[in-house]
Amino acid sequence: MDYELGNILLDGRTISRKVAEIASEVAACYSGKEFVAVGILKGAIFFLADLVRSLPSDSLVKIDFMAVSSYGASTKSSGIVKIVKDLDTDIRGREVLLVEDILDTGLTLSYLQELLKGRSPRSLRTCVLLDKPDRRRVDAHVDFRGFSIPDEFVVGYGLDYSGYWRNLPDIHVAKAIENTVKNTQPKE
Ligand code: IMP
Ligand code: MG
Repeated sequence: MDYELGNILLDGRTISRKVAEIASEVAACYSGKEFVAVGILKGAIFFLADLVRSLPSDSLVKIDFMAVSSYGASTKSSGIVKIVKDLDTDIRGREVLLVEDILDTGLTLSYLQELLKGRSPRSLRTCVLLDKPDRRRVDAHVDFRGFSIPDEFVVGYGLDYSGYWRNLPDIHVAKAIENTVKNTQPKE
């Protein structure tokens, strides 16, 4: 299956207005308190970067990252994800805000939430830019949510297809296209 870039679903201005709104909710929540914003690589880097820069200058925010990958098709339903890069920070007793690009089936976030809770943070909250509620298979608690979107594959602003298109400033729908090689095969 290949994809081509489709229409813009959310343009850069709309995204930055929403990020500013989320930032003021986050700032109110952690007012006067230090917290660690944990971005999930690679998709969340643009969102995390814009979010923390929209916080008031007296915010006591630090940033850290985790990288995860799916263990493969056979374990997909169990939601076990492999930690490719772990936190540098010891989060015991700390206030932690998980920052993710998109909540889809919920498998990745619910796994990460359980994993991080096991490290005894003082609090663990979750922030997602996009939510595809129609695709949900397991519950994952979300404290700050940007946009609820339809069940379409989207790219841009950190979201990728096969590593491409993360750099786009807008979020586009990616449309599946026919495999053209198959169409050029001679008919029997
Ligand atoms: P979940 O475990 O199914 O919730 O998967 C979430 C992860 O799947 C995200 O962090 C993305 O990396 C990826 N993902 C889900 N939907 C999309 C999409 O529409 N475009 C690009 N990546 C997506
Ligand atoms: Mg991701």
